[in-house]
Amino acid sequence: MIAVETVNLRVWYDNKEVLKGVSLKIPENVCFAIMGPSGCGKSTFLRTLNRIIELNENARVEGDVLLFGKSVFKMDVVEVRRQIGMVFQIPNPFPHMSIYDNVALGVKFNRLARSKRELDEIVEWALKKSALWDEVKDRLKERASSLSGGQMQRLCIARALAMKPKVLLMDEPTANLDPVSANKIEELIDELKRELTIVIVTHSPAQASRVSDYVAFLYMGELIEVGRTEEVFENPKNELTERYLTGRMG
Ligand SMILES: Nc1ncnc2c1ncn2[C@@H]1O[C@H](COP(=O)(O)OP(=O)(O)O)[C@@H](O)[C@H]1O
Ligand SMILES: [Mg+2]
Repeated sequence: MIAVETVNLRVWYDNKEVLKGVSLKIPENVCFAIMGPSGCGKSTFLRTLNRIIELNENARVEGDVLLFGKSVFKMDVVEVRRQIGMVFQIPNPFPHMSIYDNVALGVKFNRLARSKRELDEIVEWALKKSALWDEVKDRLKERASSLSGGQMQRLCIARALAMKPKVLLMDEPTANLDPVSANKIEELIDELKRELTIVIVTHSPAQASRVSDYVAFLYMGELIEVGRTEEVFENPKNELTERYLTGRMG
């Protein structure tokens, strides 16, 4: 099944068109990477999928985004963001809140737990899924700011997972982490895609080749090439893709 489909997606900031009609299909239970040089529209693309782009007052969107066949623009926006979770480049936990509350907050807000016990279970489940539980199970009441950068990013993943999303968007999730923490997140992606669909933005072709099943190459707001990661890396069809992959793009 196709988890997410974009149909001629176009985005402007003020009068500047930064996504110029992107149509692609993201299958269910895969890791789908969006790669391309800085400024090509990767974050904009990702932010349009769960309508976070609407927080930018100068942004205008045309085209469609379908989540399992249904237009996200015809869904309740809170529901869209529950079903399409997001993790950002700079880990953004609520620093003064406890580790527990960081994960529990959205669950409470959306009334997804019927009791304190059920809430506890969801928090534990999400922290296990994000491979953080063993490191924090004895300190759930400590502030999130007491965690390392890599732990904070996994906490943000747990916070997103607790909402039981169908799709998880990750915008350069390892760009601010040390290599060991980055590696942990990459391993986690491999586990998580069994249960949901992951769309990851990366400016690193090496990372895209390691973590993704499918890859799309964006350049100056246009989709240049998309396909199975192995095929795109071994045999790029477009010269721009080849130049990007071989590091010959300015
Ligand atoms: N809020 C904004 N207002 C105006 N221009 C923006 C805004 N956000 C991004 N841009 C511009 O849109 C283009 C695409 O940006 P972005 O999607 O962040 O690219 P990437 O994530 O690939 O680096 C860039 O030229 C960037 O400067
Ligand atoms: Mg970006």
